[in-house]
Amino acid sequence: MKKLTPNDPEMQSADLVAENVERLKSLFPEAFTEGRIDFEVLKGLLGGHVDEREEKYGLDWHGKRQARRLALTPSTGTLRPCPEESVDWDTTQNLMIEGDNLEVLKLLQKSYANKVKLIYIDPPYNTGKDFVYPDDYRDNIRNYLELTGQVDGEGRRISSNTEASGRFHTDWLNMMYPRLRLARNLLRDDGVIFVSIDDNEICDLRALMDDIFGCENFIANIVWQKKYAVSNDDPGIAPMHDHILVYQRSEKFERNLLPRTDKQKSRYTNTDNDPRGNWSSDNYISNKSRFERPTLWYAITHPKTGEDVWPEESAVWRYSREKHAQIERENRLYWGPDLSYKRPRLKRFLSEVQDGVVPPTWWTFQEVGHNDEGQKETAELIGPKIFNTPKPVRLLRRMLELGCDKNGIILDFFAGSGTTAHAVLDLNKQDGGNRRFILVQLPEPTGQKEYPTIADICKERVRRVIKKLDAEDAGKLDLSDGAKQDRGFRVFKLDTSNLKPWDPNPENLNRTLLDQSDHILPDRSEQDLLFELLLKLGQELTAPLTTRILAGKTVHAIGSGVLIVCLDREITRDQAEPLALEMLAWRRELAPTDATTFVFRDAAFVDDVAKTNLAAILEQNLPASALARIRSL
Ligand SMILES: C[S@@+](CC[C@H](N)C(=O)[O-])C[C@H]1O[C@@H](n2cnc3c(N)ncnc32)[C@H](O)[C@@H]1O
Repeated sequence: MKKLTPNDPEMQSADLVAENVERLKSLFPEAFTEGRIDFEVLKGLLGGHVDEREEKYGLDWHGKRQARRLALTPSTGTLRPCPEESVDWDTTQNLMIEGDNLEVLKLLQKSYANKVKLIYIDPPYNTGKDFVYPDDYRDNIRNYLELTGQVDGEGRRISSNTEASGRFHTDWLNMMYPRLRLARNLLRDDGVIFVSIDDNEICDLRALMDDIFGCENFIANIVWQKKYAVSNDDPGIAPMHDHILVYQRSEKFERNLLPRTDKQKSRYTNTDNDPRGNWSSDNYISNKSRFERPTLWYAITHPKTGEDVWPEESAVWRYSREKHAQIERENRLYWGPDLSYKRPRLKRFLSEVQDGVVPPTWWTFQEVGHNDEGQKETAELIGPKIFNTPKPVRLLRRMLELGCDKNGIILDFFAGSGTTAHAVLDLNKQDGGNRRFILVQLPEPTGQKEYPTIADICKERVRRVIKKLDAEDAGKLDLSDGAKQDRGFRVFKLDTSNLKPWDPNPENLNRTLLDQSDHILPDRSEQDLLFELLLKLGQELTAPLTTRILAGKTVHAIGSGVLIVCLDREITRDQAEPLALEMLAWRRELAPTDATTFVFRDAAFVDDVAKTNLAAILEQNLPASALARIRSL
């Protein structure tokens, strides 16, 4: 039974460097000698595709190498469960994670790689007035706890990144780069990311996204009309818009059409009681010249006068003679009320046009809301002027409609006041969808009594949205038939790992060894440990978890039995056998589709015999395909 230490790769967040090396090895085994890469061989294998020029096209800045390394360093933290701040802890699939998103994204790598359908982020725009998170590559978790006042209670002053800093754009790029790199790994192959930004950083962001996602995956630069009126005191040309950059993870992404609005539907009517239903009329003329398209220049017959009708001098018909004949046969030409038009129009039936409208890159405030609407929405829920920069719910809703299926996971790792969760819950209510959200928000101090951090604002807003939707539904849904939607969320908080790091004291090695014999931090609960295991062994944070008493010990089964954990503090020789047998019986009952990992508390075994016996019974009774590993903590 292998004892897991905090330094063990199994107990760390994903080792992305090792994963990259493995991928390379499987593609080019001949480029590896004694486990190391031979670049000369690799270059040879890649032929003329290696770029060795010193001056290259692409985005570069001071610190890029470090930022790349930062993305690859595993996290030393964990996520601690907070059922008391959650809603419907036992059943929900939604998550709200409080912490610095860089560490959280690292921690999510094993469990959520390739699972997220849509990412939306609204990062600091780097206007010179906003806060840009200063990562510390030496000890980012400690840095986080200090910054947010969780170590000495005060917190370091969270200052804005000012244009005078001399590293203005560099600081922002250094912050964004590792986060976007890690976020990309979480997207499904048919996933998509939307990023809000204004003109301050649009150029850097576009280059950064091209670098990380590939310029071939650029989908659109959406222009959102965020204001409805020009500021009269603007000294220059008053900005009225934000950008939303959209990139797909790969060519497997397919955008959805947008639902037709009532206004758009109202353009289809049935003035002539056509049995095919409502229709609207479309142009029958094309603006090409008859010299360019001579076959489209011909005469058709007016149904009222019987005269020849030609396209205008400078135009042609839209369709060939043959196609026109078919259109006539099918009675699809519209000549106006009482056949009063000189030239016909084409009838397009609502039942035959595609089921929605093509999304444009121009999003008006009438369609998706403006900044003031976002303000109003949050004010109604949590009070005025509590949060400065909320987006309108309709804006998020448009992105969800365009890029996400009804069951997709949506991630927002600059969650702010939680507008993304609001839009997910709203849209699920409206169309019966089952979309799930993962929010990540820094507990950035606000200086307010009621909501001490922005994470508190976010949680409270989502709670109130849930209350509001539940109140609207009260009496409408028959809750007994499973119609109840997921209107909860699990709260987790970033913290140091539950396992003490190996930090030997050279002055007193005996003491160090003794301290390390049980390396679980004393103030951490069984639940804390369970969730650390879950994360580090790659299970989702909302995986089903059941608990039973087996042979007098508390045992947990996670993810329908792929992880079976007993963290009891004492397992004697006599108890080892019945415990192992009952665990095996429970596993048979659960019948997981994957192999199981068993985990125990190392200090629980009274001696090595108890430990070896227990492991031997599990090993003898499970085929290799059903037993992933047996570990102790
Ligand atoms: C512009 S706001 C997002 C507003 C959000 N879209 C809404 O509608 O409410 C950006 C948020 O990112 C948060 N943030 C900044 N750095 C962060 C970090 N390193 N980790 C997590 N959140 C961070 C800030 O606290 C801020 O609330």
